[in-house]
Amino acid sequence: MKVLVIGSGGREHALVWKLGQSPKVDKVFCAPGNAGIAGIAECLDIKADDIDSLLNFAKYEGIDLTVVGPEVPLTMGIVDAFVKEERSIFGPDKSGARLEGSKVFSKEFMLKYGLPTAEYRMFTSYLHAEEYIRLKGAPVVVKADGLAAGKGVFVCETADEAVEALKLIMKEKAFGSAGERVVVEQCLKGEEASFMVLTDGKTVVPLATTQDHKTIFDEDKGPNTGGMGAYSPAPVITEKLHTTIMKTVIDPMIKGLSRERINYRGVIYAGLMICDGKPYVLEFNCRFGDPETQPVMMRLDSDLSDILKATADGKLDSVKVSWKNDAAVCVVVSSKGYPGIYEKGQVITGLEEFRGRKDTVIFHAGTGMYKGNIVTNGGRVLGVTALGKDIRAAKENAYKAVEKVYFDGMHFRKDIADKAIKKQ
Ligand code: AMP
Ligand code: GLY
Repeated sequence: MKVLVIGSGGREHALVWKLGQSPKVDKVFCAPGNAGIAGIAECLDIKADDIDSLLNFAKYEGIDLTVVGPEVPLTMGIVDAFVKEERSIFGPDKSGARLEGSKVFSKEFMLKYGLPTAEYRMFTSYLHAEEYIRLKGAPVVVKADGLAAGKGVFVCETADEAVEALKLIMKEKAFGSAGERVVVEQCLKGEEASFMVLTDGKTVVPLATTQDHKTIFDEDKGPNTGGMGAYSPAPVITEKLHTTIMKTVIDPMIKGLSRERINYRGVIYAGLMICDGKPYVLEFNCRFGDPETQPVMMRLDSDLSDILKATADGKLDSVKVSWKNDAAVCVVVSSKGYPGIYEKGQVITGLEEFRGRKDTVIFHAGTGMYKGNIVTNGGRVLGVTALGKDIRAAKENAYKAVEKVYFDGMHFRKDIADKAIKKQ
């Protein structure tokens, strides 16, 4: 089987890495990929949102399965384009991708199908939104409706702060048309978890539980990032809570998708806040999480190509998905300045000794090649991921590996997985 993976982050490296282990996979291509992916797959000079070129390549090369990593091509309708040409592709179509592409759509969907979520109001008028914020007071959360590369959500401790966020979104149009509508919602306090399931619209298979670390600094301080580390399993999701999430979030979600005639074949990622033991949905993503996918792929015992192909072809009931008992921890190493303006082009050293290892893998995110060296080429640069008999051991192994890699200005959190270790 020939597989094409679309994207260039740590998530895509993890997917390519796992797909490459399947005896059924003859060749993996990745568009556009990164320096790490280039070591294990053939990278193509095609951007992730260049749907026409991707489709032409898939047809020309006879790709048997295309796997879409990021949300942008999904919201643009890459799946619709591939399906029209009867090509097997993993991911939701344009209508399904609205769950992530529009916060307003996603909140309305949750309300309609009774999913637990924070109270909210939607606004198209700046003045009405400001009036509402002043009336309700803080803490409050202000969200741009559309995709904003993870930067469109503002958790505000004061009403003034919330009004500033509103101005940025609606008046200064910092996110362009993504900010034409806003969601103003109740601020929830609790512990976050990422709950991912695979679905072909009929069958649902939960992935191993996991938790991300959103902020740039230790102890959840500083601005939000795409994610600075993740671990799996996530002890905050107890067996009982898992059952509750399936019953109150995932089942109504699948029913809703079917009622709305949305043909969903991919990952549903619910970003949850666990408040007093109860799950609330903060957001839906229509794709695998990054960096959550890195530890989850390390723990996957089954053949990923079987799973993704079965999902894409509507036969998810035909596969079994099993997990290693080991835990996995991923520590993200980022560039100086991230999530603000950061530098690129720093030479990365210390990667060689991890080549080919299965217990510790350095997944690349923002990396590139320059004059024969692997260099930094993004905000999040590496996802150093290790297995261990439990979370504590996996954490130790991951940090041991972090110590071996180096580039100028590298930053990483020192407390990845500590929340889980405290619970053990
Ligand atoms: P989202 O892109 O909607 O996941 O939001 C990004 C981050 O903002 C989440 O991971 C949470 O940390 C935070 N957040 C979003 N909505 C809320 C909320 N209603 N209450 C508290 N924090 C939130
Ligand atoms: N780690 C958060 C996300 O993938 O959206």
